[in-house]
Amino acid sequence: MDKKILVTGGAGYIASHTEVELLNRGYEVIAFDNMVNSCDESIKRVEQITGKKIKFYNADMRDRDAMEKIFSENEIDSVIYFAGLKAVGESVSKPLEYYDNNIYGTLVLLDVMRKHGVKKIVFSSSATVYGTPERLPLDETCSLSTTNPYGSTKLMLENILQDLYVSDKEWNIVLLRYFNPVGAHESGLIGEDPKGIPNNLAPFIAKVAGGKLPCVNVFGNDYDTPDGTGVRDYIHVVDLALGHVKAIENVSEKGVHIFNLGTGNGYSVLQMIKAFEKACGHEIPYKICPRRPGDIAACYASVDKAKNELGWEATLGVDEMCASMWKWQTQNPDGYNKQ
Ligand code: NAD
Ligand code: UFG
Repeated sequence: MDKKILVTGGAGYIASHTEVELLNRGYEVIAFDNMVNSCDESIKRVEQITGKKIKFYNADMRDRDAMEKIFSENEIDSVIYFAGLKAVGESVSKPLEYYDNNIYGTLVLLDVMRKHGVKKIVFSSSATVYGTPERLPLDETCSLSTTNPYGSTKLMLENILQDLYVSDKEWNIVLLRYFNPVGAHESGLIGEDPKGIPNNLAPFIAKVAGGKLPCVNVFGNDYDTPDGTGVRDYIHVVDLALGHVKAIENVSEKGVHIFNLGTGNGYSVLQMIKAFEKACGHEIPYKICPRRPGDIAACYASVDKAKNELGWEATLGVDEMCASMWKWQTQNPDGYNKQ
């Protein structure tokens, strides 16, 4: 059994929830983060929830010496990879920064892993690699394309990992294509803490519900969807975290294994606003705005492969997603470090 797991980008949103599930199952967690989009309070909160310690390094994955140090000081069995820049709009204005961080950083990490004989990696990919969906629901064989530098880094990294396996059949590589992660841990101690005004729908709704922003801007109501607003497959971050545990525990064969992690259900923007109103108990103001450039009408997953081969399926629905986000929002109105 893999016991020592290195979590890259370990102070981030999905990483912190995954660490809770790993620690609760008896894994030792070593983590690093360069704090470009996080703070160490999240690590403290994970330790508070679990009563266990994380061996944490403040390090950048592009820093080869720092990576060497981490792998030399710890007998790492597997790596769960979350580190990266992830804002679609920012990636359009800063492509070089995105390729440098996400691509170059991963090359350094993989090289150091190879030198230390660590050849199991669970990689955070994204439904963004499906581009404009070829068909719905999206299954893992659907065609791939991207429309922005962030998405391109994910698709390139998938290809790099495939090439790595071709060169050395000792690698065990799991590519997890997340749909839309939302929600927070039931304790309300950890959650999503985007810097500035959120780009994504769920944290934006939470800020409006909490009175921090005036109203939700609904980007288009003229899509070919039941109510005209965009449809996505929102998945509870705790379900997502459990998908990583399954990838560590149930994928023992060497190779490249690809799984969608979603619920298989699509919800529209207006349905999400309604679900959040139920969770917070009051009305959430919204206004219809023009479409956001680059958005697709609908995107949801076929989850059969994850169910059959990974032994994983999502169990939490939109009500749990919204209730947990609301708890996180009310307990931490300005995120970490700011109460
Ligand atoms: P996040 O920003 O909360 O976590 C990423 C972490 O990586 C941050 O803490 C950041 O400081 C760190 N980081 C960035 N560059 C680094 C570097 N060079 N060295 C060390 N640390 C670095 O984001 P998240 O939502 O938790 O996403 C985790 C992963 O999942 C990312 O790779 C993201 O692209 C992917 N993903 C996220 C979503 C989503 O909607 N949240 C969807 C699909 C895929
Ligand atoms: N939306 C609004 N108002 C907002 C924000 C979003 O109406 O303020 C709408 C969008 O138009 C879309 C839906 O809400 O229809 C979801 O938008 P998000 O920005 O929350 O999520 P996306 O599906 O656009 O993209 C997210 C991540 C990507 C990732 C993708 C799939 O931002 O990085 O999910 O995992 F690739």
